[in-house]
Amino acid sequence: MLEFRDLKIEDEQELLVLWKARLTASRSPQWDINLFVSDSNCRGVVLEDKTKGKIAGFGAIIFYQTPMDGLTGTIQEVVVSGEYSGQGWGRKLIEELIAIARQKKAASIWLTSNNKRAEAIHIYLTEGFIKKDTNFFVKELN
Ligand SMILES: CC(C)(COP(=O)(O)OP(=O)(O)OC[C@H]1O[C@@H](n2cnc3c(N)ncnc32)[C@H](O)[C@@H]1OP(=O)(O)O)[C@@H](O)C(=O)NCCC(=O)NCCS
Repeated sequence: MLEFRDLKIEDEQELLVLWKARLTASRSPQWDINLFVSDSNCRGVVLEDKTKGKIAGFGAIIFYQTPMDGLTGTIQEVVVSGEYSGQGWGRKLIEELIAIARQKKAASIWLTSNNKRAEAIHIYLTEGFIKKDTNFFVKELN
């Protein structure tokens, strides 16, 4: 039985393994999970296999005020474990994050996705996300 629940501090190590296996082996998370779970603008959604007692997926949405769009959410670090992928859970996870943004009365949701992530891009486009042409820039500060 798989269920969505809020992120807990104890999830950190299992998430590290899942991200490394499915998202990026070259980058390490720099978050302070204690700060993340205690910040009302940060929501982490865990997909849990209650029977096996393990994490099957995860997605985060972070809210912030912007000048042009007002309250905006950014979806990050979406992942479904290989054992559970291809069964509709990734789409349900995105829908859960969208529902959270609606409850928060956010005006829009932003996300980025590498072109090689065909399944994710398919889900985003069919869930109503529109691909923008704007470039995405990052300056690392540490
Ligand atoms: C992306 C990810 C979260 C999706 O989770 P999932 O549980 O496998 O997804 P679902 O089963 O809900 O849906 C997969 C969809 O992709 C489609 N799909 C599968 N292979 C595809 C391909 N090569 N090209 C396009 N679409 C594809 C499926 O048909 C399905 O669409 P449908 O609901 O219209 O039938 C999961 O594959 C994952 O963790 N990937 C690695 C990490 C990642 O890419 N994260 C996203 C970062 S932006």
